[in-house]
Amino acid sequence: MLTHQITPFFSSLFVGEIEVPDKTEFELYKLRENDAGRTISVVNGWQSTRLTKEEAWSKPLLSQIIPDVQELFLKFGIDRQVSLTNYWANISPKGALNTSHKHPQSCISACVYIKAPNKCGNFVLERPDNLLDFVVPDTVNENNYGVWEEIPKKGKVVYFSSNLPHSVLPNMSDEDRISVAFNFR
Ligand SMILES: [Fe+2]
Repeated sequence: MLTHQITPFFSSLFVGEIEVPDKTEFELYKLRENDAGRTISVVNGWQSTRLTKEEAWSKPLLSQIIPDVQELFLKFGIDRQVSLTNYWANISPKGALNTSHKHPQSCISACVYIKAPNKCGNFVLERPDNLLDFVVPDTVNENNYGVWEEIPKKGKVVYFSSNLPHSVLPNMSDEDRISVAFNFR
């Protein structure tokens, strides 16, 4: 007879919402003009080089995100002030995607959507253990998810512990998807 379920380990996506100033989109297109970018996980899109100093456009985003990350630090038993490790912007046109990756040297990561048209590519959190190499479920439920897809929306923030593998589906809309990823420790 089963008596109860214990979940000693969890892999969660936390979702929040912030106000995105109207000029942020313009500022990020301006940033792209002077930054050839880099290719880490991005395919067919532009990703800025890694930024460490707070740029003017990032301040209103960070002032809203940091209190949430501080709350998550508590949840994970981290008893110190949040500090920004680095961040980067993404401008992803039609067809752009991000392959599976993690965010090393960071505790908590956040991705905020600045522009998110319909069907611009869901954020995909991937199961970090190999459960599905052993258990072959016939029905999908909260005990056997292989992935979790979150639909982007302007102002939505997805927070996750930086060890979790994640990817982004291809942008199927005719407009750009714009996001900024932040790492904290
Ligand atoms: Fe990422």
